[in-house]
Amino acid sequence: MTAERARITVFDTTLRDGEQSPGCSMNQQEKLRLAQQLERLGVDVIEAGFPIASDGDFESVRAIASTVRRPVIAGLCRACRPDIERAWEALQHAARPRIHVFLATSDIHLQYKLRITRDQCVKQAKEAVAFAKSMCEDVEFSPEDATRTDPEFLCRVLEAVVEAGATTLNIPDTVGYTMPSEFAALIATIRERVKGIENVTISAHCHNDLGMAVANALAAVEAGARQVECTINGIGERAGNASLEEIVMALRVRPDRYRYDTGVVSEQIFAASQMLSEITGVPVQPNKAITGRNAFAHEAGIHQDGVLKNPLTYEIMTPKSVGVPDSKLVLGKHSGRHALGLRCEQLGYQFDRRALDDIYRRFVRLADKIKHVEDHHLLELIRDTHKPSTSATPLIEPISTPTAAVANLPVAAQEPVKPFAVPSAHVPPATNAFGVPLPVASESRHEQTQQEDYLWGV
Ligand code: KIV
Ligand code: ZN
Repeated sequence: MTAERARITVFDTTLRDGEQSPGCSMNQQEKLRLAQQLERLGVDVIEAGFPIASDGDFESVRAIASTVRRPVIAGLCRACRPDIERAWEALQHAARPRIHVFLATSDIHLQYKLRITRDQCVKQAKEAVAFAKSMCEDVEFSPEDATRTDPEFLCRVLEAVVEAGATTLNIPDTVGYTMPSEFAALIATIRERVKGIENVTISAHCHNDLGMAVANALAAVEAGARQVECTINGIGERAGNASLEEIVMALRVRPDRYRYDTGVVSEQIFAASQMLSEITGVPVQPNKAITGRNAFAHEAGIHQDGVLKNPLTYEIMTPKSVGVPDSKLVLGKHSGRHALGLRCEQLGYQFDRRALDDIYRRFVRLADKIKHVEDHHLLELIRDTHKPSTSATPLIEPISTPTAAVANLPVAAQEPVKPFAVPSAHVPPATNAFGVPLPVASESRHEQTQQEDYLWGV
């Protein structure tokens, strides 16, 4: 039996930092809908907004705080009284409210943006946290631009806010500048040097300007962070934040590397991603890990053949484990005969080897010209290949009535453009504790064609 892994707190900031992404603003109703999905997803903390920023943001935070009851609801504020008061006004009816105070600590920000000295920074941070604590037990502090802050000064600020009552210290890589080993070392330094650190939670908030956000967040976890801040689909300022789904699934797929897990219901990931994309109108990048439409699509023949025999060959997690309805095989010029034969079967045609060869040769020529071969193309090709004058004849004539009806329709009225699902008969049902399918013996009908399928797929 495996030991239960310790829990990492998932702090979702899709509704705050994510919303700061160009084109991703949401109205109150949309935010509430998404917050309810985040609750179903099982996140621990929802950062619902920045209440002082606008009346709309204030109302959204207030509505979420009074409706979404299980997760902690956080509101962001600068380190000043009016922000903190406004945040508390929005949060006070939450079942579990959190005030999140931030103040920049790097010399660049102090000098050019805030125009204050280091001493003034320490004083302001301390006072703001003490003021927030006078209203709310749960107070998070973020030293903005922490990764470009002198570590010694950073520790001084952190120690001051711990003394003032902060319960979570969030370390933001605001500009996505740090590297995994460097960020891990910074977390280790904080753990070593900040007095009282053992009584607070260390958090990581990573941006993706160099594509390192998830790697940095995971490095922080290895170094002692116990909260990760992230967003659905990785949306957020500029290049975005660390993606929630990538962090969660990295921890789940690699229990051999990480001693931690989250409370996220991974089967709700795809629904959350789709809902966000539908609300914002911003599509998910097709090759986005976990939630992109190609994340479980296989076009190369070798890959299709492997996945059909056993999904473990090319899938490290099941689509089902993240709520994606089915694995997708896309028919294109790299597809093999195995996938083509399966799709023909799904359309109601079953061919012997020679007949399939005929179709396959013509299919490859067609796929060379058009990127993806859709069902209506394939039906046309089957009809054309097997018209009475040709020598090859299908073993079985079209068997399903609906398909036969489709075959008689004009091309434009046939199948919509969509990849097809691998039928459950080809997908081994057994999975291990992490949702990864267990190996099964290959089906006998695959055996004689295995090597040829491999070659055909090249
Ligand atoms: O990136 C950042 O520094 C932030 C803080 C407000 C936490 O979003
Ligand atoms: Zn941020």
